[in-house]
Amino acid sequence: MELAGQVAIVTGSSSGIGRAIAETLASRKVSVIVNSSKSPDQGLVVADSLQGASYFQGSVTDDNFGPDIVQFALRRYGRLDILVNNAGTTRIISHADLEGATTEIWREIFEVNVFGAWSIIRAASAALEDNGGGQILNITSLAGIRQTGSSIPYATSKAALNHLTQLLAVALAPKIRVNAVAPGLVDTAWTKDWHDIRNNYSKTAPLQRSATTRDVADSALQIMENPYLTGTILCLDGGMSLKR
Ligand SMILES: NC(=O)c1ccc[n+]([C@@H]2O[C@H](COP(=O)([O-])OP(=O)(O)OC[C@H]3O[C@@H](n4cnc5c(N)ncnc54)[C@H](OP(=O)(O)O)[C@@H]3O)[C@@H](O)[C@H]2O)c1
Repeated sequence: MELAGQVAIVTGSSSGIGRAIAETLASRKVSVIVNSSKSPDQGLVVADSLQGASYFQGSVTDDNFGPDIVQFALRRYGRLDILVNNAGTTRIISHADLEGATTEIWREIFEVNVFGAWSIIRAASAALEDNGGGQILNITSLAGIRQTGSSIPYATSKAALNHLTQLLAVALAPKIRVNAVAPGLVDTAWTKDWHDIRNNYSKTAPLQRSATTRDVADSALQIMENPYLTGTILCLDGGMSLKR
């Protein structure tokens, strides 16, 4: 499926996985709206480096974020074809530490990872239906599939996003396709200090390494370019889930 000429919003794309997806889409001649909440300088650098891209600052947790970024896309480009829900947050809390995973932390994580994605999807769905139909790609996690991840609230939020992906794949068909990529450990700023986890990953995963952001962006593109895929949750983990 030809993506050239389409318009995409990629939340949380000033760094890491979101940035790699923005770069990959731009390389396919997609106009990308780069977003971040606290790193406008970095976001502008990314947008300036990509043909046809623009930058929109805002947190996915803000009530008006969804409507505002969709309006921005429609005013600037006149259409919206792709929504990538990539912005995410976590806390590192041992799964056995029930006291550590306070309700406040649950709320904080769900506000970004689940409610944030939901409110943009609601705001974007009408525009995504136009121009022959569009698509949503959610960046979830292996933690949303297997008993792993930086904390139980994080893993549960990603499980919710995986389930939301499949519920919406049915609810929004046939005009909007909805898929997810669920990576295992990826080398980004988020995980740069996770030395023990990375060593364990290299020792245990069949492919003996963590993922690069390029690995994730390549899979995201394969999904986005396939017009017959919906409801897919692609577990991109170098085989790690086979060993747990
Ligand atoms: N790295 C991994 O091992 C891994 C594995 C599985 C899944 N993931 C998922 O992949 C996604 C990206 O992670 P990453 O590793 O690439 O992290 P990263 O390099 O830290 O990038 C996170 C991006 O999200 C933005 N962001 C954070 N909170 C936001 C908010 N409320 N509104 C808008 N943007 C926000 C950040 O910019 P600002 O801080 O300026 O807002 C940044 O652009 C997350 O959903 C994460 O759960 C990561």
